[in-house]
Amino acid sequence: MKINKNYLNLKPSYLFKTIGERCADYKAKNPDADIISMGIGDVTLPLCRTAADAMVAAAKEMGNIDTFHGYPSSYGEDFLLSAISAHYKNHIGIDVKTSDIVVTCGAKEDVANILDIFDEDNTVLIPDPVYPVYLDTNIMAGRKIKFISANEENKNLPMPGENDAADIIYICSPNNPTGAAYTRSQLKTWVDFATENNAVILYDAAYEMFITDPDCPRSIFEIDGAEKCAIEFCSFSKTAGFTGVRCGYTVVPSELTFDGVSLLDLWKRRQSTKSNGVSYVVQRAAAAAFSEQGYAEICSNIDYYRKNTANMMATFDELGLTYYGGCNSPYIWLKCPKGMKSWDFFDVMLERCNVIGTPGSGFGEMGEGFFRLSGFGDNDRCSAALERIKKVIPTL
Ligand code: MLT
Repeated sequence: MKINKNYLNLKPSYLFKTIGERCADYKAKNPDADIISMGIGDVTLPLCRTAADAMVAAAKEMGNIDTFHGYPSSYGEDFLLSAISAHYKNHIGIDVKTSDIVVTCGAKEDVANILDIFDEDNTVLIPDPVYPVYLDTNIMAGRKIKFISANEENKNLPMPGENDAADIIYICSPNNPTGAAYTRSQLKTWVDFATENNAVILYDAAYEMFITDPDCPRSIFEIDGAEKCAIEFCSFSKTAGFTGVRCGYTVVPSELTFDGVSLLDLWKRRQSTKSNGVSYVVQRAAAAAFSEQGYAEICSNIDYYRKNTANMMATFDELGLTYYGGCNSPYIWLKCPKGMKSWDFFDVMLERCNVIGTPGSGFGEMGEGFFRLSGFGDNDRCSAALERIKKVIPTL
């Protein structure tokens, strides 16, 4: 037996696990510390009432012989596929066929699992900094990886250059971690670039609900030609607070073919072999979140989180700190004061403010010197964290 040696090329621990361990150590030594987490982008509000009620009703159906359901469809139940298609139509203004949607356990799983359908010889292009799953899963598969830098000069929105040709291109917009969102014309440039280079774009739209700028698309499929070069990944996690429930979806247009082979067919073949789908109870809750009433409730939850980012931006303006994101995103990408390194600033925040954030360097080399703060917390706890930060920053 031989192990997959590519795993030995990974950092020993996944970013958010490392942070969790550092905090647990601190807490063990300082049991009275009142730690406020603004680290991992985990939601704090409960499921919206309409989704929670639908989940209870579905659970009751499962406990009754007349309404019990066995294995779900590997691709998603019709009622949820229709709700997702209606979401695209009613809130984003585009047509997405139900047959092009595959319901899954979440976008994190999907961006990892989709790699099964691509040859390992493909070269991938990954922005730096970025959500660590893109990089780690390609290291696991031993693929050749090229990076494209997101930095202050390009406002964290890198555009393709002549050295950036690759077979698989990752785009995350609004971006995790920088919070930057591509405009329509910038995305068109990426779509044209992918088309010219016979590449596929893996488009992570997990944070689409946070976009307020009408010039920034909520879906790659708002861009002409994207249906021939892109796959979109979405999630109910950040949209509807499903981080602990798990449900997401991919859109793979039927027009998307390479060498005459449909990627949708390959993706469905993969899913039907390796997955028995998402539980009926969860799918009912997800569909309810996209009902008219559910959508109003999830929008109100997103507005609640926006208060945190607005509060952070006002505080950092007052302190004269440089930051990015926050407007179309739940994340603030803060430049560490006094040229501090990301993990040094993490220690200051933990030890002197009892506030947890995510060191930018954990998202890639270009993230060094930055610190990500999540807006998914409780409003009062966020205000309390900012009061502590206000006292400590001037002393650095
Ligand atoms: C993050 O904090 O980057 C995300 O919550 C992690 C995830 O979605 O897996």
